[in-house]
Amino acid sequence: MQHIFKEGTNKDKPVLLLLHGTGGDENDLLALADIVDPTASVLSVRGNVLENGMPRFFKRLAEGVFDIEDLIFRTNELNQFLDSSSKEYNFDRSNIMAIGYSNGANIAASLLFHYENALKGAILHHPMVPRRGIELPQLTDTKIFIAAGTNDPICPQQESVDLKELLEGAGATVEIYWENRGHQLTMNEVQAAKQWYDGIYK
Ligand code: MLT
Repeated sequence: MQHIFKEGTNKDKPVLLLLHGTGGDENDLLALADIVDPTASVLSVRGNVLENGMPRFFKRLAEGVFDIEDLIFRTNELNQFLDSSSKEYNFDRSNIMAIGYSNGANIAASLLFHYENALKGAILHHPMVPRRGIELPQLTDTKIFIAAGTNDPICPQQESVDLKELLEGAGATVEIYWENRGHQLTMNEVQAAKQWYDGIYK
């Protein structure tokens, strides 16, 4: 997968896995990683699917309607990419914290829904429930921060509440931050994510 890896100065910190929104690329969220933890290593990945020229992490049939077969295939592909990257760049595979926005948050949530040890934690900006009706793996010790908009046309409030409950049901610790806005990624929610992260790692 096309990507950027930047080695951090503190190897005890998690590797920040950056996952962009639809139409973005691996450069988009680099500034966020710098805010959340400038000492951590960064692995920023470009989605392998193109929708009218716009990179995404998996196909969709319509706005908010996911192609589940492709979602499963692409989630596995990303999980394997994390395995091989950890060897190539010599980082701890069991210590990856995803930071995803929109479609990138959805593939991060899908990693959590499908693989027990894919992620140590995740900061999910405006995620949806990636799949319903499946049993989640054990997510004890997995820490998750969700930033959601009270007025998000792509992701209704109940979607974020459902996602929190499903992840908690699998044992994860989940905090949700509400922004009185829509689907956009705001500086307020990035700062809230940083505070949450600092609470864990400092
Ligand atoms: C998705 O397709 O993952 C969601 O609808 C968010 C987005 O617009 O990318």
